[in-house]
Amino acid sequence: MRANFWKNKKVLITGINGFVGSNLAKELIKLGAKVHGISLYKNKNSLLYIEKIEKKCRLYNGDISNYKFLNKIIKKDKFEILFHLAAQVEVGVANKNPFRTWETNIRGTYNLLNSILNKKNIKAIIVASSDKSYGSYPKKLLPYKENYHSKAIFPYDVSKACADMISQTYASELYNLPIVTTRFSNIYGPGQTHFSALIPDLARSLIKNKDFIPRGNGTDIRDYVYIKDIVDLYLLLAKRLFKNPNLKGEIFNAGTNQPLKVKDIVRKFYFHKNQKKKYSKVIKVMKKKKTKGEIPYQFMDYSKLKKYFGWKPKYNFKDTIDEVYEWYLKSLQNK
Ligand SMILES: NC(=O)c1ccc[n+]([C@@H]2O[C@H](COP(=O)([O-])OP(=O)(O)OC[C@H]3O[C@@H](n4cnc5c(N)ncnc54)[C@H](O)[C@@H]3O)[C@@H](O)[C@H]2O)c1
Repeated sequence: MRANFWKNKKVLITGINGFVGSNLAKELIKLGAKVHGISLYKNKNSLLYIEKIEKKCRLYNGDISNYKFLNKIIKKDKFEILFHLAAQVEVGVANKNPFRTWETNIRGTYNLLNSILNKKNIKAIIVASSDKSYGSYPKKLLPYKENYHSKAIFPYDVSKACADMISQTYASELYNLPIVTTRFSNIYGPGQTHFSALIPDLARSLIKNKDFIPRGNGTDIRDYVYIKDIVDLYLLLAKRLFKNPNLKGEIFNAGTNQPLKVKDIVRKFYFHKNQKKKYSKVIKVMKKKKTKGEIPYQFMDYSKLKKYFGWKPKYNFKDTIDEVYEWYLKSLQNK
């Protein structure tokens, strides 16, 4: 049934050669959709190129902070469904250079949504916000719920909170765009190539037999959701919104609601690969570190998604760790 819905649907993905975008494009193509995508530049390390998905898509390279560039693409093709995933996502980069991050994540979002005004052909727009848009809440108030207000302070978090609010404005009765906003926890899995992120960094250091350099003291709490769950969820949300315009303006959290300390994730990885000695070494380094510029506790209440659509994550860390490790092993082979 899912295949019939997507067959020949004209879909635009901003951020198509990113981690989430390339996995989503792969699935949409399997389902028969006509996939178009925007990226900042051609990235040969992306899953999109590694798995030759790009050959089956129509790609545009350019900057979403450039209104003319976006407007031309939106005008040219009669898209029916749009996933807005493009963003500068690296927290460290954002801390060092907030301006560039805000240009992409905030200006890029209103450029896109503004260029869609009065485009009746677009029936569903999914905007990727993030758990980071909530900012920091005391642990006793977690998991985050959709009605929590933003307390974002750090640059990346603020950029996502602004983009999230802008999406609410465009979904409001003033502009009536068919937008659903997603606030997902940390996503992991094949195709994630930012080695500043915990899991790619861990996998690479194990594969290359290099020391893993922790960013903080390992006590930060995170919620890791698998990419396959997220791709399924994006497809579900877009389809439901397409069929039911009343979902316009809704916000959905997703994650696993299973908080994990960063040091426990490190332990799971190292123990799984029988590297207990190395783990002890990393823990010693971690103890001396201080985390700066990052939210200490994050995990998600996804009961709204469960109530609306019966969604819950299918995958867990233990069952996916091998698949993830194998993917990095293969993709780092000659690097
Ligand atoms: N990966 C996660 O853990 C996670 C968690 C929650 C939310 N998100 C959100 O999901 C979305 C996708 O994340 P990802 O992990 O795939 O990121 P990614 O960095 O892998 O991909 C980002 C994509 O955006 C494009 N892009 C960046 N700047 C651009 C610009 N100025 N103009 C045009 N394109 C530009 C890149 O070319 C790339 O295709 C982001 O909006 C992110 O905030 C990600």
